[in-house]
Amino acid sequence: MNLNLIKAYTKRILQTDVSGHDFYHCQRVAVSAQKLWQQDFSTATYNDEIDAASYLHDTIDEKIVADPQKALSQIRTLLTTVGFNASQQKDIISTITQMSFSKNIAQQQQLPLFGQYVQDADRLDALGAIGIARAFAYGGSHQQPIYDPHLQPEKLSNHFQYRHHQTTTINHFYEKLLHLQNLMNTKGGKKLAQKRSQYMQQFLTEFQQEWDGQK
Ligand code: ADP
Ligand code: NI
Repeated sequence: MNLNLIKAYTKRILQTDVSGHDFYHCQRVAVSAQKLWQQDFSTATYNDEIDAASYLHDTIDEKIVADPQKALSQIRTLLTTVGFNASQQKDIISTITQMSFSKNIAQQQQLPLFGQYVQDADRLDALGAIGIARAFAYGGSHQQPIYDPHLQPEKLSNHFQYRHHQTTTINHFYEKLLHLQNLMNTKGGKKLAQKRSQYMQQFLTEFQQEWDGQK
């Protein structure tokens, strides 16, 4: 299946993003989801639904597009043009509409099997060196402070609170990023998530020591 039309769509929609939700984020998600999939099944299997969902997952984000419903109807047309059948379209749409962290705070959504690999890959891209870079890019583009010792991390319990509470980028590590390793669907994803979380933990320790003037 030729997915160039989907990639071009993603490039166009995300071309101005500087908050870490750019085309290269989607490309990394596609590559790492495919890799996790091949680890569990066969190296010969290439899953087109994984690619479609990976490239499209942030083009319907409420933070990025003004009208997510309109975006979804454009995506349905695109998926038909590229050659996905009705059942594949249903699975791709349910994956991209339900995989986000914010949709899974109050209760966990059941994703199609391939969608669980895409979700893991998206979460992995919020971790490690790239995850750190993306978190600060997001913070800067949302006028959020780097750190404020008077603002304690909160326990997140719903979508509204996640989007609207006052926070800092350092707090975001404690509120969300360090929990992701416990939410992974796949064995390979969990292993990588643990490794990347350790690296972030080291970064946070170093940050705190520098902040406190110990280094
Ligand atoms: P999801 O789409 O899964 O709900 P988001 O779009 O909220 O996740 O997050 C995607 C990326 O943006 C992640 O790398 C995440 O760390 C970053 N991000 C989201 N909210 C914040 C925040 N308040 N501060 C820093 N980074 C954030
Ligand atoms: Ni994403």
